Amino acid sequence: VIGPVADLYVYNKVIAPDGFNRSAVVVDGQHPAPLIKASKGDRFSLNVHNNLTDNTMERALTIHWHGLFQRKTNWADGVAMVTQCPIIPGESFLYDFTPAGQTGTYWYHSHFGEQYCDGLRGPLIIYDPDDPFKHMYDVDDESTVLTISDWQHLPTSELPEFPPTIDSILFNGKGRYYPGGPKTDLAVVAVEQGKRYRMRLLSLSCDPNFIVWIDGHDMTVIEADGELHKPVTVGSIQIFSGQRYSFILNAKEPVGNYWIWAQTGPSAPYLPGIINSGVPVAIVRYLGANDSEPTATTSTFADMLNETQLHPLVNPEAPGEPCHGCADVNLNLPSEFFLHQLDPPVGNWTMNHAKYEPPSVPVLLQIMNGVPAQKLLPSKSVYSLPPNKVIEISFPVVNEANLSHPIHLHGHSFSVVRSAGTGPDGYNYINPPRRDVVSLGNTTADNVTIRFVTDNPGPWLLHCHIDYHLAAGFAVVLAEDVQDTVANDLPVPLEWNNLCPAYAKFNSS
Ligand code: C2O
Repeated sequence: VIGPVADLYVYNKVIAPDGFNRSAVVVDGQHPAPLIKASKGDRFSLNVHNNLTDNTMERALTIHWHGLFQRKTNWADGVAMVTQCPIIPGESFLYDFTPAGQTGTYWYHSHFGEQYCDGLRGPLIIYDPDDPFKHMYDVDDESTVLTISDWQHLPTSELPEFPPTIDSILFNGKGRYYPGGPKTDLAVVAVEQGKRYRMRLLSLSCDPNFIVWIDGHDMTVIEADGELHKPVTVGSIQIFSGQRYSFILNAKEPVGNYWIWAQTGPSAPYLPGIINSGVPVAIVRYLGANDSEPTATTSTFADMLNETQLHPLVNPEAPGEPCHGCADVNLNLPSEFFLHQLDPPVGNWTMNHAKYEPPSVPVLLQIMNGVPAQKLLPSKSVYSLPPNKVIEISFPVVNEANLSHPIHLHGHSFSVVRSAGTGPDGYNYINPPRRDVVSLGNTTADNVTIRFVTDNPGPWLLHCHIDYHLAAGFAVVLAEDVQDTVANDLPVPLEWNNLCPAYAKFNSS
């Protein structure tokens, strides 16, 4: 665990989280990267040192602080070629920002190429010592952090473009591979009978979504993606790449060991030979239980959280007029998949008919250089948005290849005024869920729709959080308030200006 003022050393190391050795990208020697733990109002000063050496993976890097709004510090958002040039090996860069007011469950990860799939990802929690809602859930302990992710035995550069399978599921950095893997230790979550826990579940996944449940225990969800919601008690949670939940676990069962299970979601990459069934990924162990594994060999999930059950605790209403298509700005961004080469299969994802390719000059630097809004690159992938307006975006999925895309917007949370799985009557402007990653659903009839207010100047990426889809072009940049504000209101630190020249030199050597 580290605090909000820290040095992060990023380097390559051979690790074996599931018993299989491979070189990975670690922070301070760890995968997942160490928990960054802060309190409401803290200033973050994270000095990132790039000590990467392994040429089978990206050697330059950036770090994105997922879910933090970066008001007036768009330059610190960590998105390669949107808000900065990558940090080259041997160099360091200071991310210095204050997430005023934000509390809850966040994470951090590389936002360069597919680097986070190779390991650069970890949890970030901002605690609220004076949580005004604590009486609603009254917990004894809120220190438990649970991360889930996919894991591959090959570096991303050696995987097929859209890997159909994963090698293992890591829960708090540990897992097992099937078939034939060793019976490695799984993570143990310690509880004490009679206590109530606020546990945080984070998906650091590169691709699959997971359905997660715990034998013998309900979960009362109170937070989604840094936003508090009214408590809703469920038996299982489907969590998409980039999403986070807090849930209350009431340790009221007989002293013993209980499995935590996970199952890859429908149509997501799966464990070889294991489709549509759960595998045990970790153990809930009561104080006083013996230190052995639970004996259950199967379990099925039930009573899964439906996103429409989530209602924000504060300011629940969606901004703007309560009708579809009547925000100040209404954007329709269909997404579509194209195969352009069959053997080996190579594909593009598009948003609104354009494949996103990172520009050679970061969008923020273009703006600072005075490039007018209409001329920003990549030309078909930048949307200039006026300040202080209500924006509505709907996401029709045009064809059927590989659905359930988790769409993430930087710089904001948004109201999900139409969730996946609801019909044309499913619009909710009264108390819609608020979050920063939303699944587009399982059918081409879904038309997930979000709203937010442009109160945060800067270029923000909007993209599919399946990292392979982002790399294949499934993204756009929302350039918020380009003309009036960005150049004047977002002073960048001096060292930020050195990143691009250094990166250009690194690339040409
Ligand atoms: Cu979690 Cu664009 O990122």
